[in-house]
Amino acid sequence: MDKLSRREFARGTIGSLLTWSLLETLFENDAFGNEVKPVTGKWLAGVNQVCRDLKDENIKQVIWQEKIEELFSKVRLDELLELVDFERLRKNLKIKAKSETSLRFNFKKTDGAPDRLAFGKQIFALNKGNSVVPHGHNNMATAFLILKGDLHGRHFDRLEDQPKHLIIKPTIDRKFKAGEHSSVSDYKDNIHWFEALTDNSFIFNIHILGLKRPGVKLPTSRVYVDPEGEKIKGGLIRAPRSNFRELIRKYG
Ligand SMILES: [Fe+2]
Repeated sequence: MDKLSRREFARGTIGSLLTWSLLETLFENDAFGNEVKPVTGKWLAGVNQVCRDLKDENIKQVIWQEKIEELFSKVRLDELLELVDFERLRKNLKIKAKSETSLRFNFKKTDGAPDRLAFGKQIFALNKGNSVVPHGHNNMATAFLILKGDLHGRHFDRLEDQPKHLIIKPTIDRKFKAGEHSSVSDYKDNIHWFEALTDNSFIFNIHILGLKRPGVKLPTSRVYVDPEGEKIKGGLIRAPRSNFRELIRKYG
């Protein structure tokens, strides 16, 4: 990344439109070529610690949500992006026409940063009209931080599982812009759905799989659901279970 000049990039020898959009974010923030600051390495260590605490069952899932969102609110996006190894991201090509495009990356080796991560990570890329389609999760905690773009974000509490439906309650329904964040656990805001309102929207995502709940035996997975279900009493929705294909057809 440090060796990459604007001219080299403009010559078009490297990367795709997608990479360009992501690098543009760096240019805008004037972070291009900067060294990763030790404070950012420490921030990543902080994120790792709360994820480790959750995995080790030292903190409850809802406490993890509070802590991770507090950490997300403290990081500057340009500093976070300095941690991302863009050499790897360049291997990714286009944003898919539907749903989200998942970009894998590594963090750069940085002073203070952990050697082994307790969480999974990716960056989602979406163009206008693409969605992270509505879904809940089993045995999982996850958090989103908007890196770039405007998105319409919705969350729902998953109150009851029925054979063909979930009983859900809307909890968050608003526009998200760069720097804003939300989180999911088995206990709170379990279902999320993000629709990109602008092209070249990017979401930083971390996730922890395989969490346990007393008395609950469900496979660790996404649970696809269509929130446009029957409205029932108390502001609740009887939302039909669905599948990925059906949801991307309906929601993009
Ligand atoms: Fe999710």
